[in-house]
Amino acid sequence: CGIVGYIGHKDAWPIIVKGLKRLEYRGYDSAGIALVSQEISCYKKIGKVADLEAFAKGKTLAGRVGIGHTRWATHGEPSDRNAHPHLSGDGRLAIVHNGIIENYAPLKEELASRGHVFRSDTDTEVLVHLIADILKEEKTDLLEAVRLALTQVVGAYAIVVADREHPDQLVAARKGSPMVIGIGEEEYFIASDASPIIEYTRNVVYLKDQEIAFINADGMLIKTIHNEVQTPYVQQLEMQLEMLEKAGYDHFMLKEIHEQPRSIRDCMRGRIYPQAGQVQLGGIKEYAEKLRNADRIIIVACGTSWHAGLVGEYLIEEYARVPVGVEYASEFRYRNPIITERDIVIAISQSGETADTMAAIELAKERGATILGICNVVGSSIPRLTHGGVYTHAGPEIGVASTKAFTAQVTVLTLMALYIAQLRGTLPQSKLVELLSSLQDIPVLVEKALQCDGAAKYIASEIKDKTNAIFLGRGIGFPVALEGALKLKEISYIHAEGYPAAEMKHGPIALIDEEMPVVVIATQNSSYEKVISNIQEVKARKGRIIAIVTEGDTAVKALADYVIEIPDADEAFLPLLATIPLQLLSYYTACMRGCNVDQPRNLAKSVTVE
Ligand code: G6P
Repeated sequence: CGIVGYIGHKDAWPIIVKGLKRLEYRGYDSAGIALVSQEISCYKKIGKVADLEAFAKGKTLAGRVGIGHTRWATHGEPSDRNAHPHLSGDGRLAIVHNGIIENYAPLKEELASRGHVFRSDTDTEVLVHLIADILKEEKTDLLEAVRLALTQVVGAYAIVVADREHPDQLVAARKGSPMVIGIGEEEYFIASDASPIIEYTRNVVYLKDQEIAFINADGMLIKTIHNEVQTPYVQQLEMQLEMLEKAGYDHFMLKEIHEQPRSIRDCMRGRIYPQAGQVQLGGIKEYAEKLRNADRIIIVACGTSWHAGLVGEYLIEEYARVPVGVEYASEFRYRNPIITERDIVIAISQSGETADTMAAIELAKERGATILGICNVVGSSIPRLTHGGVYTHAGPEIGVASTKAFTAQVTVLTLMALYIAQLRGTLPQSKLVELLSSLQDIPVLVEKALQCDGAAKYIASEIKDKTNAIFLGRGIGFPVALEGALKLKEISYIHAEGYPAAEMKHGPIALIDEEMPVVVIATQNSSYEKVISNIQEVKARKGRIIAIVTEGDTAVKALADYVIEIPDADEAFLPLLATIPLQLLSYYTACMRGCNVDQPRNLAKSVTVE
C-alpha cells in the first residue's frame, strides 16, 4: 500500500492526490483521503486514485492537513468500506496504514468487549480504535497514545494518524514498512517513498523502524516507541523529477524497456576495468575474504528478482566455482535452513522492501551468515539490513512488471560472479579481460536487440487471442524462459509456463496442440543442438513455434513459425539480450488485449506484507 500525508499552508487534496498516483505501483485496489479542518472529511473509493478523484469532483475539498492511501488488499476484500483512511468510533481520529497487524484478532475482541463497534474487515481499523481508546482512558496526547498503542501491536506498519481536535498535527510511525518525511518551508510531506515529495523539497528524513514522528506548526519531533527522543538525520534526495514521468512513451513499461541500454551502462559504470581484467565492487569489498573462503552462496529473492537469482546461480557456479542455491525467500524463511558462518547470502530485491526477503535476511543473519544485497531503491530497508551490497542503479522503475530492474540485477550478478572469480582465482586473467570487454559492449547490443520491436508487435497480434503459452529454455536460457512467461501472465493474463526445454517431455508436452504458442530461447550456444531437438518435439505435436534466435540463424528459422533475432554475444550475456524481445512481446500482447500494462490487476510492485 502507499501512504501520503501533508501538513502546511497549501491545499492538501491536490498534493495528496498527485502523491498517491505516484505511489499506485504499491497497490491500486482502492484509494482514500481524509482532510482535517473543523471536522475530518473522509473520501474513499474502490479502484484507482482516478476513481477517487472522479467521485470527489464537485465536493468542497478544503483542508491544509490530510492523509491519503492507495491500497493493496490483505485483510478484507477491496471495497469502499475497507478502503483507508479508517476512523475511530467517535470520528475524532483518522488513520492510513501499510502493513499487517498480526494480533488484530485478540485486540479487536478486547476492544469489542468494551463497546467498540467496527465498520470494516480490516486490521487497520482495530489500530485506530486502540489509539482512540488509549487517548480516552489514559487522558494523554495523540503522540503518547500512538506510542502506547504500538507497544501492543505485533506486525508491520507504516501509519499516519490525524486528529480532529488538533487539526494542526500529524503523527507518523513505522516498523517494517517504509516511510519518508519531506521537510519544506513550514510544510511537511509524509510518504511511503520519496516520489510524492521530490517536486516540493529535496530535504528528507527516512524514518527508522520503531520510530514515531510528531509534526505540527512548530516542527518535527522524532521518538522511538520506547520513548527516547531521536535527532533526525536530514538527507538530500538525488532523484530527478523526469525519472518519474513517461517521457512521451505510452506506458512506463515501454519507457523502462527502452531505458535498458542506459540502465545497464549505469550499472557497470566505475565497476569494470576491461583492460586490467578487473571488477571493483566497493559495497562488498570489505567481504572479499569471506567471499574467497565461502563454502556456499545462497540467493534469496521473490518474483522476477528470483529469476535474476537463477541466472546468478549459473554465472557464479560457472566462473567462481562456488556452489549456489537459489531460494524463494518465503519458503526459505519458514524452513529450518542449514546456514553456517561460512555461507554468503545474497538477497535480491528491486524495491528493497519485500517483506519475505527481509525476513529471510534476518533469519540468515541470526544464524551467522554474511548478507549481501542487490537492490535498486537507494535508502530502502534491505540495504540497511545487509552487511554489504551493490546497488543496481537502474533508476526508479514504475511499471509494476519489472523490466530494467531485472536486467540490472543480472548485470550486477554478472559483475559479482566475475568479482568472486577474480578473488578465488578461478578464471585465467585473459578470460576475465575477454569477458569484461564483451560485457562493456552489451549496452550497444541491447540497443540492437530493441530493434525487434516491429517483429514483437507482429507476433503479439498472433498470440493475443490465445489462452495459454509455454516458454522453453535450457541452461542460462531457462530462467529467461521463466521470466518471459511471468511477464506474459502478469500483464496480459494469458496463462504462461516457463519450463526447462528438456523437461517438457515429462509433462507439459501433453498441452501442446495447434493452438499452443511455444516460445523457445534457441540462440547459438552450448545447448543449441539440443534445443533444436526440443523444437522438433513441439513441431511434431503441431505447436506454434516462436523462436528467439541469434542473428543470421538458419536452422531454427527453417523450423519455427516466427523468429526474433538478437545479436550474437558470449553465452553468459544471453539473458541480457534474450529478455528484451520477451518483454516487448508481453507488452504488445497486453496492449492488444486492452490490459492495463503499468498496473496489472491484483498485483503490486512493492509487497511489504508476507
Ligand atoms: C512483486 C512485484 C514483482 C517483483 C517481486 C519482488 O511481486 O510485482 O515484479 O519481482 O514483488 O520484488 P522485489 O522488489 O523484492 O524485487
